[in-house]
Amino acid sequence: RLLIIDFGSQVTQLIARRLRELNVYCEIHPFNAVTDAFLDDFAPRAVILSGGPSSVFAQGAPMPPARVFDLGVPILGICYGQQVMMHVLGGQVERGHGTAEFGRAYVTPSDGRLDLLQGWFETDREQVWMSHGDHVSKLAPGFAVYGTSPNAPFAITADTTRHFYAVQFHPEVHHTPNGARLYENFVRIAGFKGDWTMGAYREEAIARIREQVGDAKVICGLSGGVDSSVAAVLIHEAIGDQLTCVFVDHGLLRKGEAEEVVTMFRDNYNMPLIHADEQDLFLGELDGVSDPETKRKIIGKLFIDVFQKHAREVGDATFLAQGTLYPDVIESVSFSGGPSVTIKSHHNVGGLPEKMGLKLVEPLRELFKDEVRALGRELGLPPSFIGRHPFPGPGLAIRCPGEITREKLAILREADAVYIDQIRKHGLYDDIWQAFVAILPVRTVGVMGDGRTYDFACALRAVTSVDGMTADYFPFTHEFLGETATRIINEVPGINRVTYDITSKPPGTIEWE
Ligand code: XMP
Repeated sequence: RLLIIDFGSQVTQLIARRLRELNVYCEIHPFNAVTDAFLDDFAPRAVILSGGPSSVFAQGAPMPPARVFDLGVPILGICYGQQVMMHVLGGQVERGHGTAEFGRAYVTPSDGRLDLLQGWFETDREQVWMSHGDHVSKLAPGFAVYGTSPNAPFAITADTTRHFYAVQFHPEVHHTPNGARLYENFVRIAGFKGDWTMGAYREEAIARIREQVGDAKVICGLSGGVDSSVAAVLIHEAIGDQLTCVFVDHGLLRKGEAEEVVTMFRDNYNMPLIHADEQDLFLGELDGVSDPETKRKIIGKLFIDVFQKHAREVGDATFLAQGTLYPDVIESVSFSGGPSVTIKSHHNVGGLPEKMGLKLVEPLRELFKDEVRALGRELGLPPSFIGRHPFPGPGLAIRCPGEITREKLAILREADAVYIDQIRKHGLYDDIWQAFVAILPVRTVGVMGDGRTYDFACALRAVTSVDGMTADYFPFTHEFLGETATRIINEVPGINRVTYDITSKPPGTIEWE
């Protein structure tokens, strides 16, 4: 397996993705968790050093243990990872001083052939994506240059004897169109066969769950979303009735959702399932709260409380299983635990108290959404379930900016149901990553029949995305939007104005909060 040492780049997870696409198994670990003992245990066949926001000149700059360079395995350093390599191996890095590069750049080849560059420079230059302040100014002994850009004389460097490669740009991002080739070449050089599949992952994951859990009992937070459903089915396959699922109805679910989920898992899967109706608890605690992070933290905390309560009911459950995905992990990790910046506290990881008394089982922690779907198919979950749009743990709370009231939630549920019905009727559901309605904290004036109305406005959201990390709005036709707005206003009392949100991510996020 391949080890990615994370120095906090926002795009580290894309490296993992590129590798999985090549059917290579890899894991990402933050630099501060990679100790000598860890390296011995992990025994990587190759190592990738990610980019990151730091400067090697910063006090306490993140560094890998020196042992990494003595493992005798191929290493690829990216951006900050390149600077780290030069810094540690005896080269030199200089501060920006007008040579910072952000965004598109073009790399041209230097003399000499490099096995890493097979399939590159078939035209005379390659487009790459740069994002660096500091840059390498002197190569470490043994390294030579194989590609340069106007502001990065050492854009591609390598020590071919040791199979150390270091590039200044980010080959993992979309804007380095030929970047996947570099990864393909790198894993080939490292001797990976590319035979890792979802079937293999399933077997490995089951073995790992059994090893972690032993004879203990596990409770699993089942939301009915793809993630927790796949996690539950996987864990059930691993440990059978040692698993009990807890479905928490926090009063922030969509129309008809609770019944659907409970029926599906009780009847189809015969899983022990507790249906916890905790609407009053959640809505009570959220009463009067409008700050998004406060909402998330309250919900996250209550979830854990409720789990703990039911864990006691189950008797002696010592593990809590969650369908946490890689993007949830990366967007929530702040510098204290790992290297990147907090965008939102995803409830699955953000609200977790240190001392919750339950250990975690998170078998999907390394996967992206589309990979979870593939695993779900592998596990035989019904396609309609696997195809469901993602639904966030905090539910409708984060689609109801401002204060949450039962009245607003009821209106939101109805509007959302009409919108999704429209999308299904027009055969668009599977073309969309996620679609939902947000109810806005404003009332607006309208006229219906001969009367004045003063009701809520809502926003429709629909985005395309591959992994939820970036997204674009869905290009509905005007006819579709018009028809949907008319239906919502006619069928949903309480709404008299409909807008369509056309913000991409970034700069927006998919959810409104
Ligand atoms: P954002 O709004 O951050 O959302 O662009 C990206 C994806 O994550 C989902 N999301 C969550 N999922 N717990 C979850 O399980 C959460 O707290 C959470 N917040 C956002 C969101 O629906 C989208 O698919």
